[in-house]
Amino acid sequence: MKEINVNLSEMRSVKLDIGGKICARSYKNRKRKTIKERLNFGIMYQHPKLYIFAIWMNDPNQLIPKTLAKSVEGNSVLDLGCGTGTFQKFLPNNINYIGIDLNEDFLVYAEKKGKGAFYKRDILNDLSEFKADTVILSDVLHHVTPNHQKLLDNAIAWANKKVVISACYEKEEGPFKQLSEFIGRRIIDNDGLNEQREGAGWLRLAELISFLRSNGASNFQKVLSHIHCEIKV
Ligand SMILES: C[S@@+](CC[C@H](N)C(=O)[O-])C[C@H]1O[C@@H](n2cnc3c(N)ncnc32)[C@H](O)[C@@H]1O
Repeated sequence: MKEINVNLSEMRSVKLDIGGKICARSYKNRKRKTIKERLNFGIMYQHPKLYIFAIWMNDPNQLIPKTLAKSVEGNSVLDLGCGTGTFQKFLPNNINYIGIDLNEDFLVYAEKKGKGAFYKRDILNDLSEFKADTVILSDVLHHVTPNHQKLLDNAIAWANKKVVISACYEKEEGPFKQLSEFIGRRIIDNDGLNEQREGAGWLRLAELISFLRSNGASNFQKVLSHIHCEIKV
């Protein structure tokens, strides 16, 4: 774990362990975000509890994480784009869990609430040091578009047994599509990291399934607004 892949300007206010490991106690004197930064960042992604509430509204019975958890194989899990790390609570206690994200507010929350280890790293960079039996991609592929193939290649390379995926898809045309996309992308689902999403579009259902199939995915299930599947490696 030699590489420290964090923005050096952030290091002035945020103390991180080697390798970007999050330690909530070190975050007390964190620099406040500027108004410009806040405007470029969906409100959900600035407040972990608000994010969790929004997820709960969409999936009150937590079917998506429960379905993901059922597919986990082996003793270790690497959760790429782990967000607030809530997936971890659906796993048995004996599973070694590592969550990776770039959102500090989420990671600090996850580290306080969860039992796993959380790292501030870019999931599009090399994370081979974190190889695990199961790699989870939960609701993250559409965030990194147009780099979703790269993220999936990474996940496959870092999984010893399988990659388990839950992915949303682009809604079909409708009278309010443009407005809802604008609100969705710009205001609600803007993670503040992936500006290229604006206008980049995401895959429709048939395109998503074909993309996942072409990467070896099987066991497709529709779980609420998401497609669940897995890739054995
Ligand atoms: C919709 S959230 C999903 C969070 C969690 N997996 C879940 O299912 O609730 C997408 C997450 O991906 C993270 N993310 C996006 N691009 C990233 C990148 N390049 N490196 C690390 N994390 C990234 C965001 O910070 C955000 O927490």
